[in-house]
Amino acid sequence: MKSEDYSQGDAFQIEKRTVFSTDWLPVCAEGQIRSRGNFLAATVGGWGVVAVRDGEGVVRVLRNACRHQNMPVVGAPSGTCEIFRCRFHGWTYDLAGKFLAAPPPVAPADVQSPDVNLASFAVVQKASLVFFSIGGKIAPPELGDPLPAYGGTIATDIACNWKVAVEHLLLEHRDRSRDFIWQWPLLALRRAGALAIVEQIVPHTFLRTRLLTHVFGDTAKEHEPSSGLIKQACEHLQADRAAGTMASEDNALLVDFHRRLDAAYAEAATAT
Ligand code: FES
Repeated sequence: MKSEDYSQGDAFQIEKRTVFSTDWLPVCAEGQIRSRGNFLAATVGGWGVVAVRDGEGVVRVLRNACRHQNMPVVGAPSGTCEIFRCRFHGWTYDLAGKFLAAPPPVAPADVQSPDVNLASFAVVQKASLVFFSIGGKIAPPELGDPLPAYGGTIATDIACNWKVAVEHLLLEHRDRSRDFIWQWPLLALRRAGALAIVEQIVPHTFLRTRLLTHVFGDTAKEHEPSSGLIKQACEHLQADRAAGTMASEDNALLVDFHRRLDAAYAEAATAT
């Protein structure tokens, strides 16, 4: 990896076309959208999405882009609603993304066309987490035994590239084991007795990353101090990478992470 891969936007565009367009990406814990109408909007790897539990109780991940003029339909980061109403010109959609209505001056010519519904992504629910995929053709993630009861989520915004956050989590663990699972590209699961912590990395932009720490088997509040420490460590590591100091490759998980990134960059180079 080169210093620019951590500090400039070009690598992020390549990653959007490769890493974030082919693999299963975590979007939230099921517990964050527990009831019908609960939604959570996020930008994951450059994709604007909204995860929602629809009127039938089905979990869906929709593209957060109105079919009228491609603006975000959902402006709030989370909440509860009965329908989605685009704030720009008033197109409305049900919770499954189906077009409902629009004011006559801006109504689509064919309200029955599938092109007026919000685009939806393939969804899989594993270990109490919700994943989506743009491609949807690869095997779903495997995270082992069911997790204990959901205890909440801590959101931490970090001024770093998403790869720095991944590297920090991997540097804390040397090898794969039953107690630590690394799920390429954006998830780490750590178990300790009756406790399980899922670290979900949300790459908003190339220098803005959100860490969602999902706590199972305990209350989330107990774990806020350690999220603060991760933020400090990642921002320190980001400065190192920007200055040209790369991670030493004596960690099997880190080697595997860089190997997969190299493969993604090579794939992008072949495609252009
Ligand atoms: S962009 Fe949504 S209604 Fe116009």
